[in-house]
Amino acid sequence: MEHVTPWRARIRPPMQHRQLGKSDLQVPVVIFGAWAIGGWNWGGSDDELAIRAIQAGIDAGMNAIDTAPVYGFGRSERVVGRAIAGRRDDVLLMTKVGLRWDDERGEFYFQTVDEDGATLRVHRNLRPWSIRYEVEQSLKRLGTDRIDLIQVHWPDPQVPIPETMAALLELKNAGLVRAIGVSNYAPRMLDEAIDSLGDVPLASDQPKYSLVAREIEKELLPYCRRYDVGVIVYSPLEQGLLTGKVTSERAFAETDGRHKRATFTPENRRKVNAVLESVVKPIAERHGATLGQVAIAWTVAQPGVTSAIVGARTPEQARENAAAGDLKLAPEELATIRKAFEALSLAVPSAGSGTSLLSRIVRRLTSD
Ligand SMILES: NC(=O)c1ccc[n+]([C@@H]2O[C@H](COP(=O)([O-])OP(=O)(O)OC[C@H]3O[C@@H](n4cnc5c(N)ncnc54)[C@H](OP(=O)(O)O)[C@@H]3O)[C@@H](O)[C@H]2O)c1
Repeated sequence: MEHVTPWRARIRPPMQHRQLGKSDLQVPVVIFGAWAIGGWNWGGSDDELAIRAIQAGIDAGMNAIDTAPVYGFGRSERVVGRAIAGRRDDVLLMTKVGLRWDDERGEFYFQTVDEDGATLRVHRNLRPWSIRYEVEQSLKRLGTDRIDLIQVHWPDPQVPIPETMAALLELKNAGLVRAIGVSNYAPRMLDEAIDSLGDVPLASDQPKYSLVAREIEKELLPYCRRYDVGVIVYSPLEQGLLTGKVTSERAFAETDGRHKRATFTPENRRKVNAVLESVVKPIAERHGATLGQVAIAWTVAQPGVTSAIVGARTPEQARENAAAGDLKLAPEELATIRKAFEALSLAVPSAGSGTSLLSRIVRRLTSD
């Protein structure tokens, strides 16, 4: 397919890039994840350090950034905007719609506390008027006139998918967004989204996926391969657990979601670290790589996965994660790692808490 220059970042540093589904976007295999730098649910954040992390990532080839309005309630997008000021054309910006903390309409989703201790009630809202408002606000916070990939953050059972897709198409026709994607959608929902978009391709889905959360291998990945929908996966390091840096002693602040996540129990840490040490370390050493880099390289080597979105809080982490984009593991190494993690039985929901929630939404949508 012929690519039009402005539809991808101007600078393509030497990281492996792939086409995102049938869209015109060429994305790096490792994308910068900007949730943690919003501070909320990650025990706080330092904006200046975050800006340096994003810039280090771009310089190292991670020239696409995934954020969302709800990450730090606008803060993540503002920080991304500051980091890319003066180099907007060097990066692809990916953000989301559908989770509102600033408007009570829509289905109540969860209650949380922001960094100042204020209670916030987050609602799902994928109504067209809400989507238009959210995109306007994101453009302002990001300091740009266009979003390269707009994604539905979570499905909204109260709003028919065609209504949401029509609103996103309008924004695309107006030149405010370049490609349309979704996140946390099951195949049945993807069918509806694809039908609703007509000639415009659904660029991608964004599900959770890592060596310890492989639920999408059953249905979603085969579906996306079959219909050429891009897959940009989140939490490929299982929020740091797969880097080997989460020892039994490491304590997380109460304002860090990992403080009470089932994945981070002492028993799980011990089991994961034992496999990292005995199976992944020798492979990492052979390549002069870190454990985290091997986990990322394994993820992006799986058939159907376009890219991994990896969160980073420091320039060092960003550079390390970006370099994983060029690490190629041999088929036997990929198989050895897969087998070792398959033998692990962790006390965690295999695709994160999102999966049960997603199945509930799918059931509701399909029972209407
Ligand atoms: N669509 C959705 O519903 C959804 C949900 C979740 C995430 N996401 C997206 O996916 C992105 C990535 O997911 P995630 O942030 O949940 O998890 P992740 O990428 O698996 O883990 C990120 C965390 O791991 C640690 N880390 C990263 N690089 C490291 C390195 N080189 N060495 C040691 N530790 C390292 C950092 O935390 P510490 O330094 O604090 O340990 C970092 O914040 C998010 O930023 C967001 O853009 C989307």
